[in-house]
Amino acid sequence: MRASLFVSIYGRVLGLLRPVRRLAVVLTLANLALAAVPFLDPILFGKAIDLLTHAAARGAEATFHDGVRVFALWAAVGVGGIGARILVSLHADRLAHRQRLDVTAKFFEHVLQLHLAYHRSAHSGRLLKIMLQGGDQLFGLWLGMFREHLSTLVALLVLLPLTVLLNWQMALIMIVLITGSGLLTAYVTRRTFSAQGEVEAYRSAMAERAGDAIGNVVLVQSFVRLSAEMRLMRDVIERLLSAQFPVLNWWAVVSVLQGAVATITVITIFAMGAWLNLKGQATVGEIVTFMGFATHLLGRIDQVVGFVNGLFMEAHSLREFFEVLDTRSAVADHPGARPMEPIRGRVEFDRVSFSYDPQRRALDAVSFAVEPGQSVALVGETGAGKSTAMALLHRQDDPQEGVIRIDGIDIREVTIDSLRAQIGVVFQESLLFYRSIADNLRVGRPDATDAELEEAARLARAHDFIRRQPRAYQTQIGERGSNLSGGERQRLAIARVLLKNPPLLILDEATSALDAETEAQVQQALGNLKRGRTTFIIAHRLATIRDADLILVFQNGRIIERGGFQELVRQGGYFARLVATQFQNPAAAETVSGPGGEPMSLPSDDM
Ligand SMILES: Nc1ncnc2c1ncn2[C@@H]1O[C@H](COP(=O)(O)OP(=O)(O)OP(=O)(O)O)[C@@H](O)[C@H]1O
Ligand SMILES: [Mg+2]
Repeated sequence: MRASLFVSIYGRVLGLLRPVRRLAVVLTLANLALAAVPFLDPILFGKAIDLLTHAAARGAEATFHDGVRVFALWAAVGVGGIGARILVSLHADRLAHRQRLDVTAKFFEHVLQLHLAYHRSAHSGRLLKIMLQGGDQLFGLWLGMFREHLSTLVALLVLLPLTVLLNWQMALIMIVLITGSGLLTAYVTRRTFSAQGEVEAYRSAMAERAGDAIGNVVLVQSFVRLSAEMRLMRDVIERLLSAQFPVLNWWAVVSVLQGAVATITVITIFAMGAWLNLKGQATVGEIVTFMGFATHLLGRIDQVVGFVNGLFMEAHSLREFFEVLDTRSAVADHPGARPMEPIRGRVEFDRVSFSYDPQRRALDAVSFAVEPGQSVALVGETGAGKSTAMALLHRQDDPQEGVIRIDGIDIREVTIDSLRAQIGVVFQESLLFYRSIADNLRVGRPDATDAELEEAARLARAHDFIRRQPRAYQTQIGERGSNLSGGERQRLAIARVLLKNPPLLILDEATSALDAETEAQVQQALGNLKRGRTTFIIAHRLATIRDADLILVFQNGRIIERGGFQELVRQGGYFARLVATQFQNPAAAETVSGPGGEPMSLPSDDM
């Protein structure tokens, strides 16, 4: 593993503590104090022993005098250590807990505002896993740092070399053995790093698979996919394990050798000490001191190995975590973007081109202009680019070429929030939160009163079915509206937009799931809503767009015909043929009396 990567990831982990740096510094100092205690203890212990062994030679008074000094110092060190320990154990945990939730919340906010193109490529299950696991790992690292890593680092880097001053022969043995085990750890880390990356990739794949299957449980059950899905999952699990085992083997080797090093160190130091003592080069106190050092430092080494191992295991997923945090949205407020004034509703597409992938343009130089208050219908075969054009209007994406203007202003010059606040969308698929019906309706206007809620629901012909629900407006909606019929979902989506009451409206197949009678009623409500505001209607059922001011016919990302209903029928082009198939003959289209004339229309192709 590249050490730089290791360092940079750990640097980011610590960098996240910047908001609480003052407390972090205090805790660091407390840790330094804590690191010193285990070194001072054996030194003072050794001194006490030497005092006692020489007591007979030096006389009681001198021994007593020095003894009081040593014990006073020892007591001071003990009390100081306790104080530092209290500080650390009280505040390190709090800090770690607080920061974990803080960072998780930041991650959550960041992900929610990421560009939709990103979300189309990253599964929600994976993002959820990265968020939760990342929070846990950061928590562990922070806590570990304040509980032990910091003091361990100080112990090893500063105090270990200082032991040379006490007795260089014994110190040397310790340094050599400890360095050896450090090198071993580094070697194993390097060897197993990429394998651990594979493990992490499989973990993410597992989260993705599980999220995907659970989210599509209806599909799994109806296509009797249970065993197939299980097989896929087991497959991932097996690959994960076969990638994980070699890594574990290596770390088992480290752990065994670590134990051996510990034993060897203790024995060698003792033997060396005894030999030096016989030669008169070391006192018994020094041997005791060194034995104390050795056992303490060996414990520290265990911690270092644990830390390196932990960070190593987590480096890949932490990297993923930071990668998500570093992702910048392609659709973002431009510098200097200002809030959009309340709009009148003139909309202009000026040679707008857009493609999801380089191979094919979803929109190709689309131009049109709509006056305030007009209603515009977008028709055309499925996949022609209608939804895409509307997605650009509320900046789900930005066009690669061309400009979209509202009231003459390029929509990229205003803040995205202020733009979207003025546009209401009924999406092709009714997106619903896993919350109560009331909460779902209030999405566009959180402060709406119950009366307003009911009014909107009535207009959308939703009130009656809502009242029949077990807890009426407080009924919990299943994930993605799973406990509602398609038409009920659509009516909630319409009620939601009625409540938002925006000056610009986009209805993407808003009534496609409704029966003819309900559709006619909802159309009436939408007709009232359309009055005085610019409205875009995407419809396959042509009866619903008879009185549109302008009809744009899309084909392969281009507008191939435009004009009023009768005008286009008279032209006898693509639209006229469309009308002919839907109403069986073009003459009938002339006599259809609006949505009420539904029995004559054929079902649209995507129903
Ligand atoms: N997120 C996406 N990533 C890649 N391609 C996409 C994406 N969304 C749509 N497309 C493609 O862009 C083209 C236009 O899609 P769009 O959704 O605008 O069609 P549409 O006219 O609304 O069709 P429909 O009537 O079926 O809703 C299609 O070929 C579609 O496959
Ligand atoms: Mg569409």
